[in-house]
Amino acid sequence: MSDKVSRRQFAKIAGLSAAGIANPVGAVEVNPAPPPRAGTGFPAGFVWGTATSSYQVEGAVNEDGRGASIWDKFVRIPGKIEDGTTGDRANEHYRRYKEDIALIKELGCKAYRFSVAWPRVFPDGDGKPNPKGLDFYNRLVDELLKNGIEPWLTLYHWDLPQSLQDRFGGWRSTETCKIFGDYAAYVAAHLTDRVNNVFTLNESGRFVYFGYGIGIDAPGLTLPQAEINQIRHNSALAHGLAVQAVRAHGRHGTRVGPAENIDACAPAIDTPENVRAAEIALREMNGGYLNVIMTGQYTEAFLKFAGANAPKYTDAELKIISSPVDFLGLNIYAPQNYVVASDQGAGFMPLPIPKSFPHMNSDWLRVGPETIYWVPKLAAKIWKTDAIYISENGTSGDDVVRPDGKIYDTDRIMYLRNYLAQLQRATSEGVPVRGYFLWSLMDNFEWVYGLNKRFGLYHVNFDTQVRTPKLSASFYRNVIATNAAGV
Ligand code: BG6
Repeated sequence: MSDKVSRRQFAKIAGLSAAGIANPVGAVEVNPAPPPRAGTGFPAGFVWGTATSSYQVEGAVNEDGRGASIWDKFVRIPGKIEDGTTGDRANEHYRRYKEDIALIKELGCKAYRFSVAWPRVFPDGDGKPNPKGLDFYNRLVDELLKNGIEPWLTLYHWDLPQSLQDRFGGWRSTETCKIFGDYAAYVAAHLTDRVNNVFTLNESGRFVYFGYGIGIDAPGLTLPQAEINQIRHNSALAHGLAVQAVRAHGRHGTRVGPAENIDACAPAIDTPENVRAAEIALREMNGGYLNVIMTGQYTEAFLKFAGANAPKYTDAELKIISSPVDFLGLNIYAPQNYVVASDQGAGFMPLPIPKSFPHMNSDWLRVGPETIYWVPKLAAKIWKTDAIYISENGTSGDDVVRPDGKIYDTDRIMYLRNYLAQLQRATSEGVPVRGYFLWSLMDNFEWVYGLNKRFGLYHVNFDTQVRTPKLSASFYRNVIATNAAGV
């Protein structure tokens, strides 16, 4: 009996290969996408995209007048980057951008999220702009549009001009916030004739704490909590100033919003009490950035918890910080807090995460697909927004290149399929998620991990710079073609 089954399977496989479609990476290329399974579709017009950031892919750090960023300096401190690599070369995207845009097109993506390297445009952060730096983004935007891909621009993805770090202590000073506003105005004035959507700062939640609190990101400082809170406040102020600058200097109708790695809270068990607790937790755990941006207030619980370390601020600053945004960008990878209701404190209790909780190739990347259902749903309710974009989601994998030259990353497909199924669950209930940007288009320089972690849909051989689609590229292509979760 089992012999018969295996023979039948063999016959089927042999048949497929005779038909020339046994190559799974090629399969999606030749077959029209099947209709999606009933009940798995996304709303019409849902924006499917991928994302990268300047320092992680561009390379060309000394070309065409680019100034130094804090990452150029940080990567040279021995021991800071796991494999000792730097972003000096990275993906050579600065000169291979046309080839990379062709890869985006191959996926069928209609949107691409990239970031502008501030020190390319203003080598010293402020002062005289460098026209050659801006020209790169002009070329990039034009090439995207030529290929039918909407550019979604991020103003700051962590590559602060080193000069601002040297002169003002970087984000420790509100001087940097003001200069960021001027830079945002300049970029908006020159690019929003073609760019409709602008993200302000990527992940204040990470670069403030990792960069100024525990020193594992640039600029590598370990400051006391009071200063960390003040720097986070400054980053919110910078966000607000950028929103105002885009409104004042961008084309009328340009949309602007944050791209934040929201502290992701979900109910441990789906009961009305726990869902309510998760809602409170989401607001409070994001009290230092997203909540103040969206409401113009630090919550009582946030201020009480911060105590003497609370940030110092004025009402005028709160007004700037909460300048109305057009959308909320949320980077959602992993659950941070599973919560239950509590009659203590603010009404929720975050549960400890067991050691055996499953995670992906990166230790921090816990697998909690329901997070991408709960977080947008609760965020839309708390902050009354009608446009949420998942500005990042994706995973690293070990991505071994097999003898046939292919990368069968079924782990990444498993992760994406489960997260997208939960995202579809959210949109089918009317949660206003309007788009999704997969991190990342291609393997790139992964900060402290150097080239040791791979998040791409395309594998990159960093010696030859050859890009190879992983199996997940076919998966995502099918998701986009069918506008469905791929379950
Ligand atoms: C996000 C960042 O936090 O996660 C990306 O916005 C980053 O820039 C991605 O590449 C993966 O993070 P990490 O720390 O694993 O490299």
